[in-house]
Parts: sequence; C-alpha cells; structure tokens
Amino acid sequence: MSRSVAIVSGGAGGLGGHIVSALLPRGFHVVIGDVDTEAGERQARAIEDRGGAATFVPADLSNPGEITRLIESADRLGPLRALANNAGGWLPGPQYPSGDSWRRSIDLNLVMPMLATQLSLPLMAAAGGGSVVNVASSGGWESTPYGSPEYGAAKAGLIRFTTALVGTAAEHSVTVNCVVPHWIGLPRAVEEFDRMTPEERMRSGGLVAPELVASTIVELLTDPEATGRVMVLRAGHHPYQVDPAAADPLWTSPYG
Ligand SMILES: NC(=O)c1ccc[n+]([C@@H]2O[C@H](COP(=O)([O-])OP(=O)(O)OC[C@H]3O[C@@H](n4cnc5c(N)ncnc54)[C@H](O)[C@@H]3O)[C@@H](O)[C@H]2O)c1
Repeated sequence: MSRSVAIVSGGAGGLGGHIVSALLPRGFHVVIGDVDTEAGERQARAIEDRGGAATFVPADLSNPGEITRLIESADRLGPLRALANNAGGWLPGPQYPSGDSWRRSIDLNLVMPMLATQLSLPLMAAAGGGSVVNVASSGGWESTPYGSPEYGAAKAGLIRFTTALVGTAAEHSVTVNCVVPHWIGLPRAVEEFDRMTPEERMRSGGLVAPELVASTIVELLTDPEATGRVMVLRAGHHPYQVDPAAADPLWTSPYG
C-alpha cells in the first residue's frame, strides 16, 4: 500500500524545511512544492538518501495553474492526507500603496492556500479524510500599524478562511487549522536579531523556534480532533489557542 501523502508548499527552505523534517518521522511521503528548484531537488534527494519518501515539484505558487499541477502531482503518488499551506511572505520592493505587486502578495498569501485547499478537499475525502494547516502570521493578527498592509490583510484573511471553512471541510472529513507565528528564528532573523540593540530585541518580542512552529503544525495535521484552531506562537510561551472573535465583548462563542 502506498504511503499517505503530505504536501508542504514552500517546503524547500525556511519554515517549510522544518515542517518537512517534522513530517517524515510520521511516515508521510512528503511532496515539496517550491519555486527554488535547486534547493527543492537537493532536499528531496537528501531525504531519499536517508530512506525517507519525498518528491519535489517545482512550482511558483502565486500562479493558479502551478498550484493545480502541484496538487495533481501529489495525488498521483498516493492518498493525499495532509496539506501545509506554508509558502508565503512579504514580496520585495515597496509595499501598498506605492508598489504594484500587492495583488501578487494577496495571490501568494491568501488565494494560493484557498485554491490549494479547495483542490485538496475532494481528494482528501476520497482518501478517507485529511487535514489542512494554514500558516498565517502575527502580521495578520495585530491591530498596530504594519509595514506591508497587503501581507497583513492576506494573513488576516487566511485566519478567517480557516475558521469559516470548518463546516465545509468536515463534510469532506477534513480538519482545518491555522498557526499565527510571531517572528521565527530562521537564520536570517537570527542574524538580524543579533545586530539589534537590547531595547530593539525586547520590543521585537524575541524569536520563536522554527522547530516549535513546525511541530505544532504537524500536531495539528495529525490530530483528528483538532479543527478550527487558531494557534498563536510567541517566543518564550507554549503555543496557545485564541478565538479571534473574543475581542468583541458581545460575542458568545458556540464552543463555550
Ligand atoms: N519568517 C517569519 O518570521 C514568519 C513569521 C510569521 C509567519 N511566517 C510565514 O511562514 C511561512 C514561511 O515563511 P519563511 O520565512 O520560511 O519563508 P521564506 O521566505 O524563507 O520562504 C520559504 C520557502 O517558500 C518558497 N517560496 C517563496 N515564494 C514562493 C512561491 N511563489 N512559490 C513557491 N515557493 C515559494 C521559498 O523558495 C522558500 O523555500 C510564510 O507563509 C510566512 O508568511 C513567517
């Protein structure tokens, strides 16, 4: 019987690389969709050399056609059971309203995970059930001014997409959750953090370990009871669940 398949978008590096590493011990055939062909091929080869199962699919995931190709390629490898919508981030250059690439940012950070999820639901239903985790960001969560409004808006949309989709996903036997990491301690961030003054470091809130973000994502991908969860990850704290609507004093949670 073929292994269950897990897709990690942007899995060739950064947080995605950590998600891939955390998924492998769970026995998944991991499909890495990434625009960085060299890093993706290198990573898939290294996994296979260690006896794991991995396939790299080169794809620019801000392009809907390439998202479709990624999901179809994964589906040919075995039953699709997990999807980590991880690819994303600020696009370089001036941000909204000066820059003109903000639609691409919304495509990459919001439309791409929505489309990947839409395409995955029937495949996961056919596989007997599955799970989706969306990687949002504190940039889509906070209410202070933020340098990339388009990125903040896309990630805020991704959080609500997650909570709104729970019922529809359940009809396909799929769970859907999201993580909201603060600044992640990936190599570039560690370098920047080291250059900061003590005051700047304190204001930044510190760095969240990428391994903790990845293990939280994998827990959510493999816990059939977890759905509709919005998990915040901050430096120095265990991951904790929040209810975004709880900021409204008149809101009554249906979950008690
Ligand atoms: N780094 C942080 O501090 C931080 C904090 C909160 C949330 N996040 C979110 O976590 C996720 C991963 O962030 P990261 O810092 O690891 O990102 P990153 O910039 O390091 O990129 C991760 C991977 O995504 C790939 N990628 C980028 N654009 C792509 C595209 N158009 N198509 C396919 N692959 C693409 C890159 O090649 C890379 O391998 C993103 O969704 C990001 O918004 C990051």
